[in-house]
Amino acid sequence: MKKIVIAIDGHAGCGKSTTARLVASKINYLFVDSGAMYRAITLYVLQNEISTDNSNEIIKYLENITLSFEINPETRKNEIILNGKNVEGEIRGLRVSNNVSKISAIKEVRSFLVKQQQELGKQKGIIMDGRDIGTVVFPNAEIKIFMTASIEARAARRIEELKNKGESFSEEDIIKNLEERDHLDSTRKESPLKKAEDAIVIDTSQLTIDQQVDKVIALVETKTESL
Ligand code: DC
Repeated sequence: MKKIVIAIDGHAGCGKSTTARLVASKINYLFVDSGAMYRAITLYVLQNEISTDNSNEIIKYLENITLSFEINPETRKNEIILNGKNVEGEIRGLRVSNNVSKISAIKEVRSFLVKQQQELGKQKGIIMDGRDIGTVVFPNAEIKIFMTASIEARAARRIEELKNKGESFSEEDIIKNLEERDHLDSTRKESPLKKAEDAIVIDTSQLTIDQQVDKVIALVETKTESL
C-alpha cells in the first residue's frame, strides 16, 4: 500500500493525538504530536525562568534546544525528548498548558519547529497532529482532517486524562483553559488554527476513540486505493 502524509488539525482536547497515535500503530505509520514540541519549548522556558512575555529572550535560547522522539518500550508510545531528557509527563501539566499558546504564537518558535516537522515528513507514512499541519506544515498532505468537539465533551476527556495522572482540577478551570487556548490559537497572527479548505471535518463529541480511529482508517484506505 502506498504510504501517504496524514495531517490532523483541530481544537484542544478533541482527541487528535490519541486518534493519530492509534491510527499510526494500526497502519504502521510514524506518529508525530507537534503540540508536544510546542509544549517542550514552553517547559524549557519555564524551567529556565525566562519570562514568557520576553519573546526576544526566548528566541535567543532556541539554539540551545534539541528535540527528538523515542518509543517507550513499555507503552509503545512515541515520547518527546528535550535536550536528552524524556519530558513526556512534565509537558502535560496545567502550568505548561496555561503558557503554551503564548509561546506558540512567536513566529521564530514556529519556524524553528515547522522546519523540523517538515524534515520528519520527508519519509512518507507519517501522521502528524497539531493546529497548522494541513495549512502550513504539509499543505500537500494526501489526507487532511479537521477535528472538533463540544467544549463539554473536551473538558470531560481532559479531566479524565489529568485524573489518570493523579492531578485534579475543577471542570471550571479546565473549560477556562480550553476556551482560552481555542481563542489564542485561532486569533494569533502567525499560522492561526483554521480548517484547510480541503480538510474533512470530524466532530468527535459523540464518538468513541475506536470510532474516531475507524473513521480515519476508512479515509486512508479509500485514499490509498485511489493512488
Ligand atoms: O495539541 P496540544 O493541545 O498538545 O498543543 C499545545 C499547544 O501548542 C496548543 O494550544 C497550540 C500549540 N500548537 C500549535 O500552535 N501548533 C501546532 N501545530 C501544535 C500545537
